[in-house]
Amino acid sequence: MDVVVLVSGRGSNLRAICRAIDASTCSANIVGVVSDKRRAAALEFAEARGIPTRVVPLRKGDDRDAWNGSLAEEVTALKPDLVVLAGFMRVLGAPLLERFPGRIINVHPALLPSFPGHNGPQGALDGGVRISGCTVHIVDAGVDTGPILAQAAVPVLAGDTADTLHARIQVQEHALLPRVINQIAIGAITLDPLTVTTPVADPTRSLTVPDA
Ligand code: GRF
Repeated sequence: MDVVVLVSGRGSNLRAICRAIDASTCSANIVGVVSDKRRAAALEFAEARGIPTRVVPLRKGDDRDAWNGSLAEEVTALKPDLVVLAGFMRVLGAPLLERFPGRIINVHPALLPSFPGHNGPQGALDGGVRISGCTVHIVDAGVDTGPILAQAAVPVLAGDTADTLHARIQVQEHALLPRVINQIAIGAITLDPLTVTTPVADPTRSLTVPDA
C-alpha cells in the first residue's frame, strides 16, 4: 500500500511509521512526504531516508483555494493509496478530500470527539479529565470530526503540563498510527467513503490511573 504522509513539523509520527515499516510490522511503502513548511525536521528526516519530498507552503495572505489546489496536485501526482496526516497543522479543503474520499487519516492527541483542534493536551487539562489519549480518524471537511478508527488511552497525572501530557500521548500515537496503517494495508480496516468497518477488538490496554 503506497502512502503519502503530510507533515508540518517535528515528524516523530513519520519516524514511528518508518520504524514499523523497517520492523515489518507495518506493511506500507511511503512514496512521498509533503509539508506546508519549508523548514521542518520531518522533511529533513524524509530526505535523509531518500523519500521524495514536496513543499506546498501557505503564507499569510496567500490564496487558500489556490493552496488547496496545489496541495491536491502534489499529493495526487505521488499516486498514494492512503494519505496520512501526521502532525499536519492545516484543515484540508475540498480538492484533496474529493480526490481521496475516505482515504485520508489523521492522528490527534486527544480522545475525540473531546478536545478537537490545535491544543488537545491543554484542552484535556483545562477540562479536568483524568484520562486522555490519542485518536486515529478519517479526515472529513471538519476539524477532527471524521469517523474514529482507533483510540488509545493515556492517564492524566497530577502535575501534568500540556507538554508532559502530550509527550506521554505521543508514545501511544507512535504505536497506534502505524498499527492502523497496517490494518488498512492488510484489509482489517476497510475504508469506504460511506461505510467504515473497523476491527471490533483492538487489544485493550490496561490502564492504571494513579491517585492524584
Ligand atoms: C501529534 O501529537 C499529532 O497528534 C498532532 O500533531 C503532533 C505531531 O507530532 N496532530 P509529530 O510532528 O509527529 O512529532
